[in-house]
Amino acid sequence: MNNIFDTHAHYDDEAFSEDREELLGLLQTKGVAGVLSCGINLVSSYENLKLAKQYDYIYCAIGIHPENIADERKGDLDLIKELLKTEPKAVAVGEIGLDYYWEENAPRDVQIDLFRRQIEIAKELDLPVIVHDRDAHEDTFNILKEMRPKGVLHCYSGEKEQALQYTKMGFYIGMGGVVTFKNARKAVEVVESIPLDKLLLETDCPYLAPVPHRGERNDSSLIYLVAEKIGEIRGMDPQEVLDITAENAKAFLNVK
Ligand code: NI
Repeated sequence: MNNIFDTHAHYDDEAFSEDREELLGLLQTKGVAGVLSCGINLVSSYENLKLAKQYDYIYCAIGIHPENIADERKGDLDLIKELLKTEPKAVAVGEIGLDYYWEENAPRDVQIDLFRRQIEIAKELDLPVIVHDRDAHEDTFNILKEMRPKGVLHCYSGEKEQALQYTKMGFYIGMGGVVTFKNARKAVEVVESIPLDKLLLETDCPYLAPVPHRGERNDSSLIYLVAEKIGEIRGMDPQEVLDITAENAKAFLNVK
């Protein structure tokens, strides 16, 4: 299979420290056509930008993740905006959003404030947002409904009804390894019901490797397993799933 477009990776992660160059040098020979590598704070955003400049097929998203709000320094958002304005390979604002799962995360109002300010940047620059929503479905939905950026709900974990509301508003739904998991009832229902032109594939690597690699380090080449599962659910050829979602990714990120 070929034409894999991974719309959510973290190739700056230390899980890739040992063999990053070797892995990224080989991904295209394993069917990978494009990757969006996402920052989680300013330092990580710079690292991903470096990778995007080094490899033709890699693009990057720049932003501050809700679990990393403590890393934010005064002026970071100005720098983020400047990078997004001036760097051609920086094509999205992310990873941003709300995470109410971890108790040690910043208070909800602080998370919401940073989420909103980063959405504002995306809207000003006419760029998409890469949205993380963990146990914060209602607040995430309300903010996106009100502010209406272009965006994807990455590693979507909500119910299919809300997924359909999102796609009606023009948002994309990102699906990855979770759909292959044994307990993936919700993810399977989402894949069954959303319009294919709003589906994006992703890894969230190094995390969430698809079955039969669950628990191992994930990378973009394993997306073929996600395409096989989605093909099974939708009664389609997996290569067709990859082709359609790659086109969706290019349109979404405005890249060729
Ligand atoms: Ni992520």
